[in-house]
Amino acid sequence: MKTIAPSILASDFLKLGDEIKKIENSGAKYVHIDVMDGCFVPNISFGMPIIKAIRGCTNLVLDVHAMIINPDNYIDDFISSGADIVTFHFEALSIPKIHSAIWKIHSQGKKVGISIKPNTSVEALVPFLNDIDMVLIMTVEPGFGGQSFMDDMTKKVEFLDQYKKEHSLNFDIEVDGGINDSTIKIVEKAGANIFVLGTAFFKSPVQIKVGDLIDEN
Ligand code: DX5
Ligand code: ZN
Repeated sequence: MKTIAPSILASDFLKLGDEIKKIENSGAKYVHIDVMDGCFVPNISFGMPIIKAIRGCTNLVLDVHAMIINPDNYIDDFISSGADIVTFHFEALSIPKIHSAIWKIHSQGKKVGISIKPNTSVEALVPFLNDIDMVLIMTVEPGFGGQSFMDDMTKKVEFLDQYKKEHSLNFDIEVDGGINDSTIKIVEKAGANIFVLGTAFFKSPVQIKVGDLIDEN
């Protein structure tokens, strides 16, 4: 399955309900929710009340990207607020805590994603690839929307795509940061299948349709 995951970080918060409708009308299956704590990243966004409000108005898959320290302390809150996928950062937890976070999320029937920042090697994720549902490759430094796509992150996507094929795995490969109608083609070709769009979706003068950006099949 391929889809885009519009990031509400770039949306108009005064009209959040309308913005969610815009996502539904685009044909996207996911809504990407960037939770930032001002510690793991140098910015603060929003948290559980916003996740709950969105859950109350849509059946889209709620794709929560936790850019926070100690994400394992908030797993239950994310899930009770309505998250379908909980993605935490590899850099935020020790190896034993990563294993227990994966178990905790799966035991509640939800999907697990692990994300890496641009300076983290993708090989660090190999021990977890059998056990997770998604890898989120950051294609900018996490913390802010509107940055430029880092081209050299493409090789991480290629590595994961190759690894999936060699080991017959089917975790999703999500990319996040600076994705637009041209950069999406680079990462799609490399093997990514979930594409986060913040600025390119919400600041576009025309309503984006998923089929115009990617071959959904
Ligand atoms: C950045 C966030 C992204 C951000 C993407 O830390 O994780 O999801 O919203 O925004 P754009 O698409 O504008 O780069
Ligand atoms: Zn994100």
